[in-house]
Amino acid sequence: MPIPRFRVWRAWRGIGVCGAVLLALCVERVLAFAWSGTRSRPSTPTRVAPRLAARVARGAGLSVHSNLDLNIEVPDTDLETSVPLLAAALALFFGLRQLKGLIDGPEEFQLQPGSLQGRRVLITGGSAGLGFETAMRLLEAGAEVLITARAAGQARAEAALDAELGEATELRRRVQVLPLDLSEPSSVQHCAALCQQLLCGNCLDVVLCNAGVMAIPQRSASSYDGAEMQLAVNHLGHFALVGQLLPLLSQQHARVICVSSLAHRLGHPPRLLQELELGPSDALRYNAWDAYSDSKLANVIFAKELDRRFRAQGWPASAVALHPGLCATDLAKYVISGRDEPLEDRNSLLKCSTGPTVTYASYAAPVQALLQAARGLLRPLERGANSHVFLAAGADGGLERSGGEYFEDMKPAETHAEAADPLVGDRLWEASERLTGVHYDLGPIRKRDRGSRS
Ligand SMILES: NC(=O)c1ccc[n+]([C@@H]2O[C@H](COP(=O)([O-])OP(=O)(O)OC[C@H]3O[C@@H](n4cnc5c(N)ncnc54)[C@H](OP(=O)(O)O)[C@@H]3O)[C@@H](O)[C@H]2O)c1
Repeated sequence: MPIPRFRVWRAWRGIGVCGAVLLALCVERVLAFAWSGTRSRPSTPTRVAPRLAARVARGAGLSVHSNLDLNIEVPDTDLETSVPLLAAALALFFGLRQLKGLIDGPEEFQLQPGSLQGRRVLITGGSAGLGFETAMRLLEAGAEVLITARAAGQARAEAALDAELGEATELRRRVQVLPLDLSEPSSVQHCAALCQQLLCGNCLDVVLCNAGVMAIPQRSASSYDGAEMQLAVNHLGHFALVGQLLPLLSQQHARVICVSSLAHRLGHPPRLLQELELGPSDALRYNAWDAYSDSKLANVIFAKELDRRFRAQGWPASAVALHPGLCATDLAKYVISGRDEPLEDRNSLLKCSTGPTVTYASYAAPVQALLQAARGLLRPLERGANSHVFLAAGADGGLERSGGEYFEDMKPAETHAEAADPLVGDRLWEASERLTGVHYDLGPIRKRDRGSRS
């Protein structure tokens, strides 16, 4: 399905117009202020041009007769500023409304209660944000859900589940929290083993690779042979996890979902492959946003390549990727507070100026405060999780319809031009296997005696 480019263009045009109008108003105000400082304005009102006076009279609801004495006297400053101000305010209002509609995306996607009964879903990064919201929606639809969290996030996840579902309810019993740190190969291995144990011989229908980090300010090396940390958490950890979960995947309609981002389009395949195959070309020139974009591009390429390999081997499984929209979650924690801790910890904003951890030296405190405030304008979580829920439920038609696609707002969308290149996919795959030490056993499917689906 073609991407609605015109909507994106209209939004950018809206932002541009609003920005220009605001800028013009600011300049006008500054000049007026400077002018009034050097020269006092005349206090007596001046005579207004007849045509303008008629327009003002009409705007005020007065009927204008041909013989009306148009010698209306209006202070010049009021007229000069009020008309353009009103026009600018209207343009701003409609521009922002259009922009907010685009940011918010479609209404919350609803699942029928009980429609996912018997389905088992693993969600990485389910302690907060989009992962947690998705877990709640799938639970309500009847699924059994495993969510993962790092050591520090586990207590937070358990507390959030108790608060949301009650401590001993039927819903609460259908969700469990597993420890997982995607940057640590041993933790990934442990999580896969724990999954097998908890499933007690049952299959996994969906693996939702949702956990992620964004824009870590300084380059840090991961345990995957020194690969950059965002690439490690966002891609390599998930690659290793899915590879180790393959024997647990359902033989009916299993699905792997990679949560990517629109930012993947800013990724650069040669730079990504260089990082994976040879390490950084120049570690000193690390750019946090490039690294994020590349890791999200890796998510899309991985989904496409995994889907291709599923199909080549006749596996009854599919892999897809998605962009959730711009949502107010903790993902921006490194940008806003510079710390790897939840943003609800309001003190982190204060701590970042004195604390020992890394911060964006270029982002001064007022900019950080502005970013924090701007989060209120972003997409609400329940709409942000729409594509997660839609794809996990197979509402796109599942195996028959989708495979390797990338979704935005629950619709297939365009990806980076090179993301579908099988040669790029092959190289990413081989490098990922080498760095993680996990080799995918995608040979012909064996009959597995793992208990039937309920
Ligand atoms: N929010 C957006 O606007 C947006 C836009 C585009 C794409 N996305 C993508 O959506 C996904 C979910 O992000 P979100 O917005 O919900 O952010 P979030 O609230 O920060 O959630 C991220 C999750 O990732 C987990 N995580 C972080 N580092 C981890 C690690 N080393 N090992 C295992 N888990 C780790 C966190 O769990 P802990 O409790 O363990 O920290 C947390 O639950 C990400 O992949 C992100 O790139 C989000």
